[in-house]
Amino acid sequence: MSITTATFRERKERGEKITILTAYDCPTAALMDEAGVDAVLVGDSMGNVVMGMENTLGVTMDMMLHHVKMVRAGVKHAMLIADMPFLSYQVSVEDAVRNAGRLVAEGGAQAVKLEGPARMFGNVIHGIIRTGIPVMGHLGLTPQSVHQIGGYKVQGRGEEQARRLRTEAMELQAAGCFAIVLECIPAEVAAEISQSLAIPTIGIGAGPDCDGQVLVSHDMLGWGKTRFTKTFADARTVMRSAFGAYVREVKDGTFPGKEQCYE
Ligand code: KIV
Repeated sequence: MSITTATFRERKERGEKITILTAYDCPTAALMDEAGVDAVLVGDSMGNVVMGMENTLGVTMDMMLHHVKMVRAGVKHAMLIADMPFLSYQVSVEDAVRNAGRLVAEGGAQAVKLEGPARMFGNVIHGIIRTGIPVMGHLGLTPQSVHQIGGYKVQGRGEEQARRLRTEAMELQAAGCFAIVLECIPAEVAAEISQSLAIPTIGIGAGPDCDGQVLVSHDMLGWGKTRFTKTFADARTVMRSAFGAYVREVKDGTFPGKEQCYE
């Protein structure tokens, strides 16, 4: 049985943490699924971590769909959530509904995520939900607004900003979001929001009291280092050393050996 939005709600009610990781290809997503993550997010972070872009703004619907299809092929049990890339939902409700629909119909996603408060995107969220597609919200540090925010900074510091975040979270819940990502905000603010909502909060750089956590897979595998990530395995070093060993062995004639040759 696949994880659904109802599972998310039940997890929160039972106080069981929700686990989400980002993936951008089939074999990685399959490993996450086997490991028991609740959801795999095809994040627009792919722009940074797999495409070498400076930010997420250059990720297009076509790129997103390409990767959602790959991840779909690897995920059997976890919920597959696709990020709505920059300009796929900001221009009009009609555009947003069509693009969310493509991620589901062509890509095989079961839900979409979009950044920003309901006072800006409430009508977009309603339109997508009316189509039958669950929407995950995203507040705090919203990378698609990096130029407006003025960099990748902690959000929600100070009473006024914290109050605004609490209100925005309530409004996203009222708009119908099934969960909200809280990115890079003080742990106490995230804890208050998590307590006040009936829907689960998913934290990234938002402390331990969110109802679940999400990490960018490349960050937890040794590629990125921020205050809030942890290197669970240094796959980067393992891969670098495998590539180095291959180069050495081809050059010194150790590879291919007898066992890699046909009689
Ligand atoms: O794009 C992404 O990977 C995300 C996560 C950081 C939540 O939005």
